[in-house]
Amino acid sequence: MCGIVGYLGENSALPALIDGLRRLEYRGYDSSGIALRLGSDIQSVKAVGKIKALEEKIFGKDVKSPQSPFAKWGNYNKSPQLQYPRGCLGIAHTRWATHGEPSEANAHPHSDCLGKIWIAHNGIIENYKELKEKLEEKGHKFKSETDTEVIAHLIEDFYPHTNTNDNVSVGAGKSGGDLAGSLRKALKLLEGAYGIVLIHEDYPDKIMAAKMGSPLAIGLGDTETIIASDVSAIITRAKQVIYLDDGEVAEISKNDLRIFNIDNVKIEKKIEEIDWDMGEAEKKGFPHFMLKEIFEQPESIMNSIRGRVMEREGKAKLGGFDSVSKKLRDINRIIITACGTAMHAGLVGEYMLEEYAGIPTEVEYASEFRYRRPIIDKNTALLAISQSGETADTLAAIREAKEKNALTLGIVNVVGSSIAREIDAGAYNHIGPEISVASTKAFTSQVAIMALITVYLGRQRRMSLITGERIIKELLLIPEKIKDILGQNNEIKKIAEKYVNAENFFYLGRKYNYPTALEGALKLKEISYIHAEGIPSGEMKHGSIAMIDENFPSVFICPRDSVYEKNISNMEEIKSRGGRVIAVATEGDERIKEMADDIIYIPKTLEMLTPILATAPLQLFAYHVSALKGLDVDKPRNLAKSVTVE
Ligand code: M6R
Repeated sequence: MCGIVGYLGENSALPALIDGLRRLEYRGYDSSGIALRLGSDIQSVKAVGKIKALEEKIFGKDVKSPQSPFAKWGNYNKSPQLQYPRGCLGIAHTRWATHGEPSEANAHPHSDCLGKIWIAHNGIIENYKELKEKLEEKGHKFKSETDTEVIAHLIEDFYPHTNTNDNVSVGAGKSGGDLAGSLRKALKLLEGAYGIVLIHEDYPDKIMAAKMGSPLAIGLGDTETIIASDVSAIITRAKQVIYLDDGEVAEISKNDLRIFNIDNVKIEKKIEEIDWDMGEAEKKGFPHFMLKEIFEQPESIMNSIRGRVMEREGKAKLGGFDSVSKKLRDINRIIITACGTAMHAGLVGEYMLEEYAGIPTEVEYASEFRYRRPIIDKNTALLAISQSGETADTLAAIREAKEKNALTLGIVNVVGSSIAREIDAGAYNHIGPEISVASTKAFTSQVAIMALITVYLGRQRRMSLITGERIIKELLLIPEKIKDILGQNNEIKKIAEKYVNAENFFYLGRKYNYPTALEGALKLKEISYIHAEGIPSGEMKHGSIAMIDENFPSVFICPRDSVYEKNISNMEEIKSRGGRVIAVATEGDERIKEMADDIIYIPKTLEMLTPILATAPLQLFAYHVSALKGLDVDKPRNLAKSVTVE
C-alpha cells in the first residue's frame, strides 16, 4: 500500500515525480503529495483524491492558463510544452490510509517542527503512539494523525539544528548535523514496517532511503536516480536497479551512492537489470488496464509455460526448483499460502497436487497461517503464491514457516520482490506488470504454473509418462482456447447489461471450479461493489438457497467434468425456486440450454485446467458490469494493488 518516489538528478524532479506517482497510483489513491526542493527551500503540495487532483492543484485545471497557487513551480507560457521548475530533488507519495482519514493534513510527505526534514513513508510504525507521546513531551508539535510524522520528528530530535523555535527542545546546536547518523538512530527506535525516502533542507544534493518490510528499489539512470516502491515507476528512466533489503539505508547524492546497515556497516549491493518492457506498463489502446490484461492472457499464459515443458518426457522443467529438487522428492505434505486471488489459484493447486501428484495438500489464508500453530516438519513444504511478491501477510507466513525449518517455495510475478528473495526456490510468472488492482492474468498464470508444479512433483513420484504428456499437451492448447473465449467479449457484455442492476449474486461450482466460483465472486464485488458470494454448489442447500428469488441470480460454473451431473441437480434446485442462472458450460452442451437463462461456452479441456478457461468469461463479466456502472475499474474504492500492511 502507498507508493513512494524520490528523485535526484540533472533534470527537473517534478515531471519525474508525477509520472512515478501515476505509475504507482494502483498502490493507493486516497491522497497524494510532493515535496520539492526549490532554491534553498523545500516546498510541498498535497491533495485529497487521486493523482489527478494533485496535478490540478499544481498546474491548475487548464494547464494553458493555470490559476494554481503553485503556478510558480513552473513557467506555463510555452504551453503545451510545460516548462518545469529547476528543482532537481524531490519526494512524492500516493497514500492508502492506515492511520488518520484521507485528508491533506494526513497526506505525505510529512515534515518535522522546523519544516526542514521531509519524509514519504510506506508501511506502519506500530509503536508510533508511544514515540509521539515522548516527542510531544519534549515540545514537538505534530500536524497530522499519521504514524509517519513521528519519523520526521525523531530524526529532528537527533539532529542538531539551529533552533528558531524556543518551544521545540530538539538537540540545540549548529546546523549541519549528521543526517545519516540521525536517521539511523531514529530507525533503531521504530517497530513495524517502513519504506522511506527523505530529504533535508540543509542538503541540496542528497536523498536518503531506508527499508524494513516495505519494498524499495533504486533506479540508476544516466543522469538521475529514482527511488520507488516498485520498478514500474522507474522503467521509463532507468534500466538498472538496486533492490534494498530489510535493515538497509541508502545515502544518495549526485556523485555517490552508499548503502549501509543500521549500524553504519557498508554493504555492497548487486546492480540488476530491469527486463520489463515499457510498453507492457501502458494501456495500448484499451480503455482500462483490466481489459488489456484480460486480453493479454493467451500470451501471458504461454509466457508462463514456454521453455518449461518436456513434451516427449511428459515432464516439467522448472529451473527455479533445480537447487531443491532432491529435497522435493522427500516432501510428503504441502501447505499453500496466499491471499485473495492468489489464494484461489492455490485452491485449484490443492486439487491438482492431491489428484495427480498424490501429495497431501492444504491451503491456508496467509493472514491466518501464522496465528495458528502450524504443524510443520522437515518434510513439509510451504508454497506461497503472490503476484506482487510484497503482500505482508504472505511474507509473514513464509517467515513463520522458515522459523520452523520448512522448505519455502513460491510462485511470484514481480522479479526481485521481497517474497521472491525470501523463498528457497520458486517459479516466476513471466507475465509482465499487472497494473489493474483486480488481478486477472496473474490468476490464470498461477494456475498454469500450479499445473507445471503438479507435473514436476508428480513425475518425481508415481505419475505416469502418459499422464504427464496429456497434462502438458492440454496445457499447451490453453492459450488458443482462451483466445476463443475472449472472442465472445461482445456477447458477455450483453449478458452484463442484463444483470447490471442485480444487487446480489451467487457463484457456484464444484471440485476444481469451486475456487473458480470464489474468484468470479471476488472479481465482481471488488470492481462493481455488488455483493457476490462464491459457494460450493453442494453447500448451497445448507442455508444460502434461502436467499434465492427472481432478483438474486446465480452464476454456475458447470463444465462437462466429473461433477457435471451433481452441478446440474443443484442448478435445478435454484431454477425451481425462481432463481435466474448464468451458466459457464462446455461447448456442445445442449442440455444446459433447458435450464440456464444465459450461457457462456468454453472449449473442452482437461478437468484440472477448466478453472483457467472458466475464469476468463467471469473476468469479462465483472469488467463489463463495472464499466457499465461507470466505476473506476482499475482503481476500485478502498483497495490497493499490493497490500503491504497486515
Ligand atoms: O500480490 P498478491 O498476489 O500477493 O496479492 C494478493 C491479493 O491481495 C490480490 O490477489 C487481491 O485479492 C486482488 N485485488 C484480487 O483481484
